[in-house]
Amino acid sequence: MKVIATVQDFRAARCALSRGTRVGLVPTMGALHEGHLSLVRAAKAQSDVVVVSIFVNPTQFGPNEDFAKYPRNLERDCAMLDHEKVDFVFAPSVEEMYPKGAVTFVAVEGLSDKLCGRSRRGHFRGVTTIVSKLFHVVEPDLAFFGQKDAAQVAIIKRMVKDLAMPVAVVVCPIMREADGLAMSSRNSYLDPEQRRSALVLSRSLSRVRQAFDKGQRDSAELIAAGKELFPDDAGARLDYLEIVDPDSLETLSAVNQPALVAIAAFVGSTRLIDNLVLYP
Ligand code: PAJ
Repeated sequence: MKVIATVQDFRAARCALSRGTRVGLVPTMGALHEGHLSLVRAAKAQSDVVVVSIFVNPTQFGPNEDFAKYPRNLERDCAMLDHEKVDFVFAPSVEEMYPKGAVTFVAVEGLSDKLCGRSRRGHFRGVTTIVSKLFHVVEPDLAFFGQKDAAQVAIIKRMVKDLAMPVAVVVCPIMREADGLAMSSRNSYLDPEQRRSALVLSRSLSRVRQAFDKGQRDSAELIAAGKELFPDDAGARLDYLEIVDPDSLETLSAVNQPALVAIAAFVGSTRLIDNLVLYP
C-alpha cells in the first residue's frame, strides 16, 4: 500500500496505471470504523485499484463545530487499510487541498440547504468542493459513499449529473453497532451515559417504521410517532426528523413513494445522524 500526500505524487502514480484500470475511490475523513471498511470492501470487489482518501476537510465544518477536535490517527487508519489490501491512501494536508488564496467552490444549490444543510450552513458546499477536487486528482471510475449520509449522497449524485463527471456513484448500506447505533467517527465523543442516550436516534426511526408497517402513510403522523421518544428531559435534543424525497430532499406530506426518513440529534454537544428509507 502506498501512502501519498501531494497532488503531484498522486497524479504520477495514477499515470503509471495501465489504461483501462478501474479505479475505485473511497473518500473519508479518517478515524476509520467498520462503516468505512464496508465501503472499502465494496470498492475492492468492484475495482482493480482502490484509493482511500483521508482528509479532515475544514470547509465542511462551521465555525463552532468540531474541526479542531475531530479524531485524527493516520497511523491506525493506514494499518486498517493495509489489512484490507488497499492500493493507495491519499492523505494530503490542508495547504495541499486549499492552496493559499483558494476561493473556488462547487455548490449544489437548493439541495444543500435541506436537512443537515439547514442547521450546518455551508456544510454541503464544503463537501461538494472537496469531493470535486478529489475526483479531479484521483480520476476514479467509481466512487463509494455510505447511505449513512443520505443527503450527502443525494447532493453528490446531483453534482455528478449536473457537471457530467465521469464517475459512477456507488451507495453502500448503513453499518450499525449490535444495539442499532449507526457507526460514526463521532461516536468516540460519547461517554457511557451519552452512548446509551444515542440509541434514541435508531429507536425513533424504528418507531416510524412500526407506524408505517401498521399502515400509517401520513408524514405528520409518522414523524409524531418518531418524536415520542424525545421528551424534554431526554439526554438527546432533536435537531430534525423529516420525511423527504430521497433524490430532491423535498418534504413529502405522505409516503406514497420511496421516502427518506432522516433524523439528526445532539447528544451532549455531539451531533449524530441516522436515516432509513420506507418503500410503500
Ligand atoms: P466520513 O464521515 O469519514 O465518511 C466517509 C464515508 O463513510 C461516507 O461516504 C459515509 O457515508 C460513510 N460512512 C460513515 N459511517 C458509515 C456507516 N455507519 N455505514 C456506512 N457508511 C458509513 O462523509 C465524509 O467523511 C465526508 O463528508 C467526505 C465525503 C469524505 C468529504 O469530506
